[in-house]
Amino acid sequence: MPYTIEQVKALVREFPDFPSEGILFRDIFPIFRHPEAVECLVDHFVERIKGLGQQVDVVIGLDARGFLFGPLIAIKLGVAFAPVRKRGKLPGEVVSVTYMKEYGPDVFEMQADALAAGQNVVIVDDLLATGGSCKAAEDLVAQLKGNVLLSAFVISLVGLEGGKKLKAPVYALIEC
Ligand code: PRP
Ligand code: HPA
Repeated sequence: MPYTIEQVKALVREFPDFPSEGILFRDIFPIFRHPEAVECLVDHFVERIKGLGQQVDVVIGLDARGFLFGPLIAIKLGVAFAPVRKRGKLPGEVVSVTYMKEYGPDVFEMQADALAAGQNVVIVDDLLATGGSCKAAEDLVAQLKGNVLLSAFVISLVGLEGGKKLKAPVYALIEC
């Protein structure tokens, strides 16, 4: 059965006090129990990206949930996918950036040959909170002299104003 985008949105669940007290966790995994819902989500992002009217060369997914749908978007666009991973997971030459998470600093890395200078990228992830992770990804792309056209999320926690940290425009399917 084909899904509408409103039905896809309704699959996102909220878990109070996960992973710690006071956090309301948004869980996108129920979407992945329904192949047609995943297809609808991916098509929605693809249409939004095509609507930019600019050539996209690489879709970049953030560790870890950006890996779930980033490659699917890249396949439909007919372009490359590249991961941004937490420290020590990627072989070969990498570029690195330190960024702040809730309980202290973390490090994101990208393979130096994943992107050529001047290429256009779209960053994808499940959720935009403080924007620290996506800003770190923007920094990695800048180190490789790429251009971020858009950062696209399933969910944006708009009250945290993460988008204000980012240079590129933001799209989120769900704003809450
Ligand atoms: C979550 C989420 C985003 C990031 C958003 O991942 O999937 O990547 O936090 O937060 P921010 O906008 O405040 O940076 P997390 O770093 O918890 O890692 P995980 O994917 O390994 O769970
Ligand atoms: N879901 C997934 N990742 C997150 C969340 C959430 O609700 N909040 C901060 N990072």
